[in-house]
Amino acid sequence: MMLDRIDHVGYAVESLEEAVRHHERLFGARVVHRETMESDGVNEALIAVGSSFIQLLEPTHPESPVARFLLRNGGPGVHHVGYGVADIDAVYAELVAKGARLVDDHPRPGSRGCTVAFLHPKSALGVLVELVEDPMVER
Ligand code: CO
Repeated sequence: MMLDRIDHVGYAVESLEEAVRHHERLFGARVVHRETMESDGVNEALIAVGSSFIQLLEPTHPESPVARFLLRNGGPGVHHVGYGVADIDAVYAELVAKGARLVDDHPRPGSRGCTVAFLHPKSALGVLVELVEDPMVER
């Protein structure tokens, strides 16, 4: 099995602060990491759930993919699922060899110092899938 675990579920939200307050109020959640990824056009807040995360994503500008998702979806919703992998280069190469459609030309830097690559929904039963190699995960 190429996938180790569910690393995170990514939510598109209109207001990061509102989404954080919602999770605090409803679940007693605590934000463990915040980051702005200008390359992806998102402000992110991570909430730890065991060894996985809820990843809240707010667009930084109207052309951001997350902004386009919010328009298409008519509001907030599940944007993608992140699968933790041990060796993203090997997984990426195997998926390409199997004819899967990848969004990224090659694995690239993500938040938290992770290396990531997105799999096109057409190759993942309609779900946008992110492969995540997290250097902090012990194996
Ligand atoms: Co993600």
